[in-house]
Amino acid sequence: MFKTGITTIEDLRDKSKWNTWLLKRSRNVAITLYNETLNSPELSEKVLREFTDDRGVYKRTAADRFAAFDIEALKIIELNFAQNEQLAVSDVAVSDGRTALDFFQKLDKIRKIRVYDASDYLCVVNAYEKDGVTAVAGNNKIIQIVWKKCVLSKKRKTSFIVFALNVVNYMLYYFLTPKAKRAIEEGKKTEIKLFCPSALLKSKQDDRFSLFEHNILEPFISRYHIIRAMNILNFSYFNVAQFETIIDNFYASLSDGGLLITGSNQDAGSIVNGAIYKKTKNGFELIYESGEGSATKGLIENYAAKSAITKGD
Ligand SMILES: C[S@@+](CC[C@H](N)C(=O)[O-])C[C@H]1O[C@@H](n2cnc3c(N)ncnc32)[C@H](O)[C@@H]1O
Repeated sequence: MFKTGITTIEDLRDKSKWNTWLLKRSRNVAITLYNETLNSPELSEKVLREFTDDRGVYKRTAADRFAAFDIEALKIIELNFAQNEQLAVSDVAVSDGRTALDFFQKLDKIRKIRVYDASDYLCVVNAYEKDGVTAVAGNNKIIQIVWKKCVLSKKRKTSFIVFALNVVNYMLYYFLTPKAKRAIEEGKKTEIKLFCPSALLKSKQDDRFSLFEHNILEPFISRYHIIRAMNILNFSYFNVAQFETIIDNFYASLSDGGLLITGSNQDAGSIVNGAIYKKTKNGFELIYESGEGSATKGLIENYAAKSAITKGD
């Protein structure tokens, strides 16, 4: 089975084109349309919903995604930090930053914020066009190839059925890869910043709110009172060894008594399976759980701090 994608802004505006006619599966959307959607949060959300990076991790995000969970998180922050404490917050894997800005604005009403670092592994991609083939590259890898009505990406195969359905797309992807490489070398380049305009504007106007690239598999360079990691601690994204590295990095970067806020959900307002943990001398203490808890609760709750990083601030 062959699935065409959405490659023009006119088709993107027409919601009847969002799903395939036969099986009603959602069509891939060219990330090259992203710059044209910046005045429409709904359309940019749609583009990101279908977009995966080079490892198959989704960029999807949504405004007001965690309304009820955020309320609980803010109550716990109020209980854990004094009113005059100047908080440093790291919000990781923020995609276009809309959920980070949302939480920043809510937190700003109840506590003093010194720093709010919103980061993601992939913040910008470049599109290179030559002879009708557009290669989209990020972190030095081809992420998407756009050709005529096709939007092709090397998503990880989730099951044999999904793989079988996509076999034509896979073959086209490999057929077009040499042309895509030539486009990267010789084609016309367009930069696509993946942060949303409201988050970018806030980062220009407010010194406390920063947007930058950070891979949570790498150590943090600062210390934080709060680390927030939403829709990223997911077993389809990382293996156990990688989670151990990530949790080590969180632990090392949190100040004593700092909070780890984490959870996953689907659409805006859906139940968050998540939790809030407090850093202790030896690991993490669960202080709040929502839905089924964090997917990585076993790893977080059994985490034993390494002696080298238990010395505190
Ligand atoms: C499903 S989105 C979640 C976005 C946002 N936190 C939310 O909940 O709406 C996952 C995000 O994690 C980012 N990501 C993937 N691997 C990462 C890594 N190793 N370090 C930091 N961010 C990562 C992706 O680029 C993507 O923006």
